Amino acid sequence: MKPFFSLGNALFKGARPQPVVGDAPPRIVLPAAGRCGGRPIMEAFSLRRTTRDFAHTELPDVLLGDLLWAANGVNREGDNDRTAPSALGIHEIDVYAALARGLYKYEPTGHTLELAVAQDLRGLTGYQDFAGEAPLDLVYVADISRMRDVPAQQRETFSAACAGAIVQNVYLFCASAGLAVAARGWFNRSMLAEHMRLRRHCMPVLAQMVGYPSSPDT
Ligand SMILES: Cc1cc2nc3c(=O)[nH]c(=O)nc-3n(C[C@H](O)[C@H](O)[C@H](O)COP(=O)(O)O)c2cc1C
Repeated sequence: MKPFFSLGNALFKGARPQPVVGDAPPRIVLPAAGRCGGRPIMEAFSLRRTTRDFAHTELPDVLLGDLLWAANGVNREGDNDRTAPSALGIHEIDVYAALARGLYKYEPTGHTLELAVAQDLRGLTGYQDFAGEAPLDLVYVADISRMRDVPAQQRETFSAACAGAIVQNVYLFCASAGLAVAARGWFNRSMLAEHMRLRRHCMPVLAQMVGYPSSPDT
C-alpha cells in the first residue's frame, strides 16, 4: 500500500488537463440504480477502508450509476430527498465525476451526468503521485449561493459536513461492491476550480478516487 504522503513527482511536475479518451458525450443517461442487494450494512462497515492502489479498468455505467446514486442520489419522492443529509435540506454539494471521457456533473433528479469540461482532469484532483490513476475521481463542490439561509460563519462547516456524509456513502458503497476508494483533501482547490470552470461562488471541498483494486488483497 502506498503511504499517505506518497508525493512522487505529482506536486512538482505541474499536473495538466489531458485530452479526453474517445468522445465526450454531452449527457450520459445512467441506468436506474439497483436499490437492493450488496453486502449487509454491518459487513460494509467492517470492510470500509482507504485503498490507494487502483486498476485502470473503467467502471461500467451500471456501477457508476449505482455509486452516484449511493453518493447523493434522490431516494424519496422530492427532488431534494437524497441519500446524504444536508443542513436545511439545501444540498449545497454538487458531485462531479472526472473520467477519462471528460468532467461531468451529476444531476440527481434526472440521474444523468452532464458534460462540464471536455478534458480529463483526473490528474488535478490530488497532489500525490497516484492522482489520476483511478478511472474515476469524484469532486465534491460547495455552491455557497444556495446557503443564504445558513449564517455566514456556519457555511464552511456545514458544507464540509455535507461533503463528508457523501464521502462516507461512497466509502460504504465501495466496501459493499468490492471497489478501492480513497478520500482526498490534499489538492489545489483554486487551480482545480479554474480548470473545472466553476462559478465564483463554487469551490471544491473534497475529492475521492474510486476504481477496482489493483490486486484482490490491496
Ligand atoms: C477529510 C479527509 C481528507 C483526506 N485526505 C486524504 C488525502 O489527501 N490523501 C490521502 O491519501 N488520503 C486522504 N484521506 C484518507 C485518510 O488518510 C484515511 O481515511 C485515514 O488514513 C484512515 O484510513 P482508513 O480510511 O483506511 O480507515 C482523507 C480522509 C478524509 C476524511
